[in-house]
Amino acid sequence: MANIATIEIDGKKYEFPLVKGSEDEVAIDIKALRSATGGVITLDPGYKNTGSCESAITFLDGEKGILRYRGYSIEELAEKADFLEVAYLLIFGELPSAEKLNKFHSDIKKHSVVDDDVKKILDAFPKSAHPMGVLSSLTSALTAFNPSSVNVESEEEMYNAIVRILGKFPILVAWTMRKKKGLPLYYGDSSLGYVENILKMMFKQPNEEKYEQNPILVNALDKLLILHADHEQNCSTSTVRIVGSSHAGLFASLSAGISALWGPLHGGANQAVLEMLEAIKEDGGDTKKYMAKAKDKNDPFRLMGFGHRVYKNFDPRAKIIKIAADEVLGDLGIEDPILDIAKGLEKEALEDSYFVDRKLYPNVDFYSGIIYRGMGIPTDMFTVMFALGRLPGWIAQWREMRLRKEPIGRPRQMYTGETERKFAPVNKR
Ligand code: ACO
Repeated sequence: MANIATIEIDGKKYEFPLVKGSEDEVAIDIKALRSATGGVITLDPGYKNTGSCESAITFLDGEKGILRYRGYSIEELAEKADFLEVAYLLIFGELPSAEKLNKFHSDIKKHSVVDDDVKKILDAFPKSAHPMGVLSSLTSALTAFNPSSVNVESEEEMYNAIVRILGKFPILVAWTMRKKKGLPLYYGDSSLGYVENILKMMFKQPNEEKYEQNPILVNALDKLLILHADHEQNCSTSTVRIVGSSHAGLFASLSAGISALWGPLHGGANQAVLEMLEAIKEDGGDTKKYMAKAKDKNDPFRLMGFGHRVYKNFDPRAKIIKIAADEVLGDLGIEDPILDIAKGLEKEALEDSYFVDRKLYPNVDFYSGIIYRGMGIPTDMFTVMFALGRLPGWIAQWREMRLRKEPIGRPRQMYTGETERKFAPVNKR
């Protein structure tokens, strides 16, 4: 293939370099398009064809259903690695040695406290507040207690900021849930592994002498967090990168990412899936009725947990999660009719030409909520759990963006409004 793309506009030809990624993906480098053509831009709402950056963190091939973090397949990482190792891998590019991993964990533990004033902010929220709103606000509030901006030229400062947020974020997550459940806030147990500590912080009851770890839950949460840890330039990650590109701080960029993740078309889908499955159950379990609604263009209903912007054959994470859902519920001895409805819906959709033709398959969130529910996590906390998993990915992407000295993100637009018109004053009363 020639290394040049030619674009012809009004009979005039312009040449642009083609660039190749390490997996042979091809992109037209149009950095010089506007200046070369005297103002022509590309129009691509939703950035369906636009590469916003070069990145060495995550590779995915939506057609083949491949997802790799730093070259390692998601299947292998989910089976053999733990979440903290994966976090280190994503952020720093290589798997840590045992020594580096120990140091990473102990540095995180040193920062596993939040200022007491954060409790006051949490207390000011009504119990009805959505946990994602609370989490986003508390993450942003951390800037007030850690006001100095990170000098990204200093590896040490960068590292300190990273271990600080990895230490504090699980506390915010656990406190958000405890507040919702009316439980007293609890700081956790530094003798535990990262994921075990998260579970204890979330679930320890006030009168409980000793919190017994359930290895099934630890394993399931570890896996879920790994599967959610990064997903290249999705809506929330692009948000983190674009906010960070103005040199806003790490915590502010993460808080923006949390807000972006909240929506039901993105991370909020896991909550929406469960609510949908509950509604179908309440309505008598008639999956066919809901399939028809999903296909009816006059009905706004969508089959939540189905479809993905990039996966057009299957979502490799969904495959792993479906098996995990079966295992976790089986191991915990839970029989959940919701799981049967989900399986029924999936089977029907996979045989239905509407879904097949549009390449709509279950995504990662179709089954994750069922596991979270089995673990005793309230439905409106599901997206918070997603944020907890995505944290290392957001950090890795923010770090990469700053280290590569990317310019401020500032897209162009095609203006379709009124051309200039004269202001005619009206008589105000
Ligand atoms: N149910 C019914 N129809 C659907 C669904 C669905 N879940 N998803 C897409 N379609 C249809 C659209 O109506 C459209 O049909 P048309 O071509 O006849 O107009 C076609 O499939 C293409 O859909 P788009 O919305 O254009 O696809 P896009 O790539 O923009 O959206 C998205 C992807 C947002 C994930 C979409 O599939 C969706 O809304 N799914 C449900 C929400 C969801 O599960 N989100 C989680 C995504 S995973 C994650 O963020 C972790």
